Amino acid sequence: MNVLGILTAGGDCPGLNAVIRAVVSRATIEHGAEVVGILNGWEGLMQGKVRALDRDDVRGILQRGGTILGSSRMDPYVHGDGYASIARTVRDNGLDGVVVVGGDGTLASALKLSKEGLNVIGVPKTIDNDIDATDTTFGFNTAVEIATEAIDRITTTAEAHHRIMLVEVMGRTRGWIAVYSGIAAGADAILIPEAPCDLQECADIIHARHRRGHRYSVVVVAEGVEPPVAGEKGAIDAFGFERLGGVAYQIAPVLEELTGFETRVTVLGHIQRGGTPSAYDRVLGTRFGVGAADFAAEGKWGTMVALRGRNIVPVTLEEACASTRGVDEKLFDTAKVFFG
Ligand code: F6P
Repeated sequence: MNVLGILTAGGDCPGLNAVIRAVVSRATIEHGAEVVGILNGWEGLMQGKVRALDRDDVRGILQRGGTILGSSRMDPYVHGDGYASIARTVRDNGLDGVVVVGGDGTLASALKLSKEGLNVIGVPKTIDNDIDATDTTFGFNTAVEIATEAIDRITTTAEAHHRIMLVEVMGRTRGWIAVYSGIAAGADAILIPEAPCDLQECADIIHARHRRGHRYSVVVVAEGVEPPVAGEKGAIDAFGFERLGGVAYQIAPVLEELTGFETRVTVLGHIQRGGTPSAYDRVLGTRFGVGAADFAAEGKWGTMVALRGRNIVPVTLEEACASTRGVDEKLFDTAKVFFG
């Protein structure tokens, strides 16, 4: 391997710069390769937007959120014709392979390109923590920290004003951020897509709290829960995913009606993806990046780096794309112990 490309695609998440720094450092120093940074995800690979990266270009970025390469939701199979739309950039830059850092949509496109002949190493990235083939993804830990701090802050104002506060967190169709931040912040109830959203049950929990003298409640709502009244679907993004956010605004009036208590909403949104990554995510991103550079040097194309137990191992892109992971029942049962 002489020339290695790297791109970050899809929604950004804390820790991307740690991966870039690690891939560039390991590939150049240990493996004597050149690294080409591809700008704005697949868009850069389709449009030939690249910049050379060496060790000095990636100094001082470990603490930075976002990605120095930029990202986008462009996709070679949605906005182009697959390998044919990236072939020129691959050829012009002499790319022997590309490290693709992305979530499930990005990795699915990476798999298709690899079947068309592109040498790819995937790196799993998402705050949603839903890629089944790896124990966890970087970005998730930071998002949970941010959400937990927000819920802690909302709890004190909920108590002061004797309100029900709904805190909506991201996670797309999976409730990992909701369950982790809800457990960490001691939420009184947590609504996730993996479990039926029973608002009467939620109202009963809140009434029981009031009867015991606790006249406020904090409910964590995963953005992917079913709305109480089925309505029109939201906009669709470039990967074909529904754009979520705001379901708590539909739940609030129902809960207010059922309980008779004032109910307010905070949607945390992109704050969960921004800012400096946690130490955990910096370390995991660094380990993934070093692993990706090593797998590229070893010619383990068509694989994704994964955390399994304490080790970074290659798994096939097929396995990486086979399934997403939902919150397991036992974890949710643990959260439920503290409801009410
Ligand atoms: O997949 C990561 C994620 O942050 C989801 O939790 C969220 O639903 C989605 O991306 C938001 O995407 P965008 O930034 O494109 O609105």
